[in-house]
Amino acid sequence: MSDSILSVLNEERTFPPVHSTDANIDGMAAYQALCDRFTADFEGTWGELAREHLAWAHPFSRVLDESNAPFYRWFDDGMLNVSANCLDRHVEAGLGERFAIIWEGEDGEVRRISYRALLADVCRAANGLRALGVERGDRVVIYMPMIPEAAVAMLACSRIGATHSVVFGAFAAQALRDRLIDTGAKVVITADGGWRKGEVHALKPKVDEALKGEGVAVNKVVVVTHCNHPVDWVEGRDLDWYIMLEGQRESCPPEPLPAEHPLFILYTSGSTGKPKGIVHSTGGYLLWARLTMLWSFDFHPGRDLFWCTADIGWITGHTYSVYGPLACGGTTMMYEGVPTYPDPGRMWRICAHHKVSIFYTAPTAIRALIKAGDEWPARHNLSSLRVLGTVGEPINPEAWIWYHEVIGGGRCPIVDTWWQTETGGHMISPLPFATTLKPGSASKPLPGISAQVLDVDGNAVRDGGGLLALTRPWPSMLRGIWGDDRRYVDTYWHRFGGHYYFAGDGARIDSDGDFWIMGRVDDVLNVSGHRLGTMEIESALVSHPAVAEAAVVGRPDEVKGEAIFAFVVLKQAGGADLKDALRDHVAEEIGPIAKPDEIRFAHGLPKTRSGKIMRRLLRDIAAGNTIHQDVSTLEDAAVVEALHKDAC
Ligand code: WTA
Repeated sequence: MSDSILSVLNEERTFPPVHSTDANIDGMAAYQALCDRFTADFEGTWGELAREHLAWAHPFSRVLDESNAPFYRWFDDGMLNVSANCLDRHVEAGLGERFAIIWEGEDGEVRRISYRALLADVCRAANGLRALGVERGDRVVIYMPMIPEAAVAMLACSRIGATHSVVFGAFAAQALRDRLIDTGAKVVITADGGWRKGEVHALKPKVDEALKGEGVAVNKVVVVTHCNHPVDWVEGRDLDWYIMLEGQRESCPPEPLPAEHPLFILYTSGSTGKPKGIVHSTGGYLLWARLTMLWSFDFHPGRDLFWCTADIGWITGHTYSVYGPLACGGTTMMYEGVPTYPDPGRMWRICAHHKVSIFYTAPTAIRALIKAGDEWPARHNLSSLRVLGTVGEPINPEAWIWYHEVIGGGRCPIVDTWWQTETGGHMISPLPFATTLKPGSASKPLPGISAQVLDVDGNAVRDGGGLLALTRPWPSMLRGIWGDDRRYVDTYWHRFGGHYYFAGDGARIDSDGDFWIMGRVDDVLNVSGHRLGTMEIESALVSHPAVAEAAVVGRPDEVKGEAIFAFVVLKQAGGADLKDALRDHVAEEIGPIAKPDEIRFAHGLPKTRSGKIMRRLLRDIAAGNTIHQDVSTLEDAAVVEALHKDAC
């Protein structure tokens, strides 16, 4: 067990809630009252909230359809449009001049985009996409840096009913290609590149590379010129974004879509070599994006400036950089570049300069900034901050305390939000002005959410550890895995007999009913808050001609949470150069985030007699722990001894 997990187990500090005069949920009594509403009438309460918080083009008459579980359907005879809910209704309510997005580029350029201007851009882009032949139900892949055009592209797709799939810009051409093939996308929206540490990170060449060969249905590539970086141009296929917008009308009636219409597909890693295309809906997803903004962050549109530092290539960027804040009619801060560029004070300078009031980031970023030293935040006036959030991995209490003291000045509640790509929005989270905070605990399920810690037989655990499960459906739940219903059922519903959603995380529940997330129990790594499948990295390694076999495990890392450790069996002996080549090879297959931190060459991998790689043993070896495990089931016990050092 890693040191940070051990420190969580010993954590006993508590922080009573800070009082706020106008909190959206202003105390535990209000929280309990909301929970009681759901207990008394689960569907009725969801229905009321959906009517109150979303604008429907056609009202729904049914809240939840469980007849084909686990393919749940929510509000399914209702119709609405996501972009109309994120833009038009706010402009119609007289908020057209309010900023929807405040964007800062890495070079310091600032753009402030009002709701009125954003609506006009989204309409022009939607009309432009239609002119390219994009129709309702088509897939559009978005492969862009963190620039406002990325949000415009997402909203434009939603306006015409095209399903977007954002691919994180640091993913390699091969990973992009896999996603293009799997989605069957017709159009890719990209940019010449984005700025990373003062240099251009080129994107368009990776698109060109991904489109080579058979199997991809893309016939148009729309390119935003952002860095003035020269790009190759394929006549007839490639189109400049601004030319696409030119001459397009600034109005485009939002297409009313069924609530169950797929808003987006977002790929995430699982325990096989192939990432899963998680499908999210229109109505249920948007409802929860909005409610969690209001509840978990106590978001007050018009007053707060909300900054979620996640890239739109991840679910956090979807729900909390774009859809959540805009569904509320509030202002979202977007930053393009590296958080420590040109110095480790960049994030704090942005907070102070723009007066960010709610700040949401990953523990890995906090730990990296702790290392950089307290002098960086000390140089900036952080008094505008009032709520802090974390997401993506367990936060160790030391990092929590630093965040609370040094960034929050001891006055800002921290919401440690547990959720997943699959859940669409927060599931377990403190409420900033109601919950007694415990460093390292995500606290309690949000109103309407049923979470439990279960033992291996599916019985609820009280005051102990087990597997985290969600025991009732919720509106923003994934609707499936794109093109693979079977995998959806097997991955999430099989574990607990089809009744409960199995999250893949281990958790502990304490005697107060607070949840402590202990990390993944499957073959998924969490590296700097990014989800990576060990099998994905293994298949990238074995696709190199020098590699016979590979096993990848996580090793505890002070900053990243987990580091990637690869045991590699070669076809012929190799040296340090080959290790570099293998690391580069993984970067080319998946992306730099998947590069192994350490590679150890081995003569063989420890396997059980049935041929299964003994990962737990490898994890212990990678962490430098003493091996207590019984190795008698191993095919060849001598293999284990040899793994402690390199075999080259
Ligand atoms: C982990 C990110 C501890 C967890 C939103 C989960 C967390 C995976 C927390 C999902 C948290 C997320 N505390 N662990 N507050 N939030 N995780 O799909 O292992 O990229 O299953 O979604 O991140 O990662 P994903």
